Amino acid sequence: MPGDGKRPVGEPEGTGAPWEMSPAVEVRGLTKRFGDVRAVDGVDFAVAQGECFGLLGPNGAGKSTTIKMLITLLPPDEGEAWVAGYSLRTQARRVREAIGYVPQALSVDGTLTGYENLLLFSRLYGLPRVLRKARVEETLERLGLIEAAHRPVRTYSGGMIRRLEIGQAVLNRPRVLFLDEPTVGLDPLARQGVWDHIRRLQQEHGMTVVLTTHYMEEAESLCYRVAMMSRGRIAALGTPDELRAEIGKPDATLEDVFAHFAGAFEHESGGMRDVLRSRRTARRLG
Ligand SMILES: Nc1ncnc2c1ncn2[C@@H]1O[C@H](COP(=O)(O)OP(=O)(O)OP(=O)(O)O)[C@@H](O)[C@H]1O
Ligand SMILES: [Mg+2]
Repeated sequence: MPGDGKRPVGEPEGTGAPWEMSPAVEVRGLTKRFGDVRAVDGVDFAVAQGECFGLLGPNGAGKSTTIKMLITLLPPDEGEAWVAGYSLRTQARRVREAIGYVPQALSVDGTLTGYENLLLFSRLYGLPRVLRKARVEETLERLGLIEAAHRPVRTYSGGMIRRLEIGQAVLNRPRVLFLDEPTVGLDPLARQGVWDHIRRLQQEHGMTVVLTTHYMEEAESLCYRVAMMSRGRIAALGTPDELRAEIGKPDATLEDVFAHFAGAFEHESGGMRDVLRSRRTARRLG
């Protein structure tokens, strides 16, 4: 924890220790199988209110599947989770009302303008008609998209599209925001822009954020704690500094920490380094 008296990025607010508050997300024994594949295999973790929590791991680790269960898109085979205090199994509708979700794949319509995309979602979320216009404008403003508001989204840069998708997901002011790979395929500057906006949302609204990422610097920059997933299980969980201390290397990079806990996949095809290499040049919109 830095000694300059400032809160570390992503640390939950509150007077007492973060873990004294009731968690925004609590996951117990969550499991999902696809045929013989145990995509998520008995995962446990809790996220404090206002915390930014990161799920890290290589392709196929089970990050998206975990998120999809937490947003009620996929029913778990075993286990239970509570989101914003509501049970996934018995209060799915309540869970859906309390969350925002930015999927790994594209979630906006390129033929519509940014304004139209948000207006569509404000109707979908059932925002009262009198609130819609103001909320859409405020959201575009907050995400730095007001000047581009009336241009078709297909003319936006990757970073602008990602910010619009985040705007879409926070229109109904969710208590917990789930982001599946928020900056995949973006250049460093655009990525920084998305990080700034996530941080602002989190700090200004006290929003809890759960994100998945392959980028260690993203986790380090945004997340208070991270869970390292490997083959459906959590290999390690803690603040980056705690994890470094755990392996006895206070100067290690998160990649080193990850390699330590998850061992083999640095050398496998489809491992962390391959993913970083291939995605660095990826373009989300062809
Ligand atoms: N709908 C599905 N049907 C069958 N298998 C699936 C399905 N969704 C995921 N899987 C499998 O479950 C495992 C976990 O996938 P998941 O998408 O959760 O991984 P991930 O960590 O998000 O990976 P990535 O970094 O590539 O996004 C993988 O082996 C994947 O092939
Ligand atoms: Mg995924």
